[in-house]
Amino acid sequence: MSRIEQALSKAAQERISAKSGGPDQSSPPANVFIPNSLTGIDPRLIAFFSSNSLAAEQYRQLRTKIIRARKLYSHNAFLVSSALPGEGKTVTAICLAITIAQGLHDTVLIVDSDLRRPNVHKMLSIDSGKGLSEFLMGKASLEEVIVKTKIDKLSAIPAGSIPPNPSELISSEEMGRLVTELKTRYQNRIVIFDSPPIVSITDSVILSHKVDEVVLVVYANHTPKEAIMDAVAELSGANITGVVLNQFDSASRYYRKYKYKNKYGYGYGYGYGYGYGGSHKGDPQ
Ligand SMILES: Nc1ncnc2c1ncn2[C@@H]1O[C@H](COP(=O)(O)OP(=O)(O)O)[C@@H](O)[C@H]1O
Ligand SMILES: [Mg+2]
Repeated sequence: MSRIEQALSKAAQERISAKSGGPDQSSPPANVFIPNSLTGIDPRLIAFFSSNSLAAEQYRQLRTKIIRARKLYSHNAFLVSSALPGEGKTVTAICLAITIAQGLHDTVLIVDSDLRRPNVHKMLSIDSGKGLSEFLMGKASLEEVIVKTKIDKLSAIPAGSIPPNPSELISSEEMGRLVTELKTRYQNRIVIFDSPPIVSITDSVILSHKVDEVVLVVYANHTPKEAIMDAVAELSGANITGVVLNQFDSASRYYRKYKYKNKYGYGYGYGYGYGYGGSHKGDPQ
């Protein structure tokens, strides 16, 4: 079994066992505690941070892996991606970023490198006036595009305006220099890159060579196996920190609103429930 297959199988087991013993999470729990620090962000993200939420616990476990990767390998730049659109990349990138920022020591920078369908600014309710695309086009400085979010210790680089040539910008030398600069400027800062889907768009694969590690999001029970295998093949050579199984509830009232079609002909909606597994080059097998 390949490392990815092991990670997926582990993620599935964790999700199923957690689900069978856990509360029904198809809607936010009534007793959800909303810290002041989270007011202003997309309310749909709040449920992830209820203290007894399964998702919150899974994110804390993923945070542990990230902190470990930084300690052992000095890795601090992580790309969040998935095979197809609408699988929860942006939600995962933001929840992960917030979870790390809520830890004791680390600061986090989230970079919206999905220059095609950027959403980080919307979910974090920040201004997307100038962002990554302006920086890469030489129209703004780094200082101008890094913005504070409403969450303590979390800053962001929004995508900015949607450019006509996203792949060109992402593959530019400027982007490479930016990743290096962001990685090295502060020692205790973790940088999380949100990204477009891997299948059919080259941006994420290009980015996977610039960052240290990749967190792969899989839409549980929906992402076709061929799409996962395509994505994994595209990512060959990348360190996979973990696989997030984003479990959508197709009965959710949001299902129709967010329905998409692509070459795999699938639609999507969402619900709650996460699991993940992962493997790392150099880890003992
Ligand atoms: N586990 C989840 N629980 C609740 N909402 C989710 C979940 N995952 C994704 N969503 C919602 O589904 C939609 C698509 O998710 P998003 O993260 O934008 O996907 P992607 O970035 O992969 O295109 C968004 O509206 C997001 O709020
Ligand atoms: Mg997205």
